[in-house]
Amino acid sequence: MQEQAPIYFDEQGYASLNDYLAEQQPSKVVIFVDDNSEDHCLSHFLKQVTFEQEPITIAIPPGENEKHMGTCMALIIELTNQNLDRKSLLINLGGGVITDLGGFVASIYKRGIPYINVPTSLLAIVDAAIGGKTGVDLEHLKNQIGVINQSQMVLIDENYLKTLPKKELHSGFSEMIKHGLVSSQEHWEAICSAAKDDSVSPHALIKDSISVKHAIVEQDPNELGIRKALNYGHTLGHAIESFCLSSDAIPSLLHGEAIAIGMILETYISVQLFGFPQKEADKLNDLVKQLYPKVKFNTDQIEEIIELMMYDKKNVDGQVNFVLLEDIGAIALDCQVDNDLIMSAFEYYKQTL
Ligand code: GLY
Repeated sequence: MQEQAPIYFDEQGYASLNDYLAEQQPSKVVIFVDDNSEDHCLSHFLKQVTFEQEPITIAIPPGENEKHMGTCMALIIELTNQNLDRKSLLINLGGGVITDLGGFVASIYKRGIPYINVPTSLLAIVDAAIGGKTGVDLEHLKNQIGVINQSQMVLIDENYLKTLPKKELHSGFSEMIKHGLVSSQEHWEAICSAAKDDSVSPHALIKDSISVKHAIVEQDPNELGIRKALNYGHTLGHAIESFCLSSDAIPSLLHGEAIAIGMILETYISVQLFGFPQKEADKLNDLVKQLYPKVKFNTDQIEEIIELMMYDKKNVDGQVNFVLLEDIGAIALDCQVDNDLIMSAFEYYKQTL
């Protein structure tokens, strides 16, 4: 079993990266970025890191639309043209698309080269860059192709968040809300308080959020059991995100925006099936009302979203398996939910938010 990658912060992170480069002496280093991280983050990164030879930068356009096999092929061809061998290193400097796609290409190029994640969005810092999940979408279906393969390290530097638009910060905060719901009352309360004064990225809270994810992945790196808890809100959230990516009727949502709706729906279902406390569900509603756009779905669209859940990666034998909550931090895995209850959850979202 692969060990989870160490997570380093700030100066200690850059020192660890510099030590790694000095010890491992990679034959070549590629820094994989998108146009945004190249413009806003690359020069700060380069100032902190000592390379023996000039690294090669490869950039792609930003956005979820790039997260497909075509972009992987283009990157693999570029790595081949640059003559990267198996002692080369790929550094993913960017948000979740860059860490997911770059990590996947590093995992399959010449049967695998080492990679390091330097996440620059809140979503990647607290979630995507940690835990070794890599992959790409299959058309509009999320993360259908990929492997779990740990990076060499994750380097967290919150300075990268300074240039992030608020909408992106809120998208990342959605995964922090999820970590609050699946962990403990104390962490959940801290998340709710941070949102009240809109300080959605205070340092301690980010560290705590990362610790929640790290501890869960440590127990179950291959998602055979408890790691499924990190998919809370994602069964419906991913289906909603996929639907919006392929629909002309509703604009695409950021990942965290879709997951916020998924959490409202799955929390309603948790209240109905497991008696999850309504007062905690109300706190979640308040957070989602405050931070995320409300989306109106009609009955046909909801039926399409329900169809899309058939592609969820937790399904077994054609059965959709939800993660639900009995209480804050009390997780119920592999739960089946009637379509009628899902319809009622959408009705609740429409009425309440
Ligand atoms: N993003 C959920 C996980 O890494 O398991």
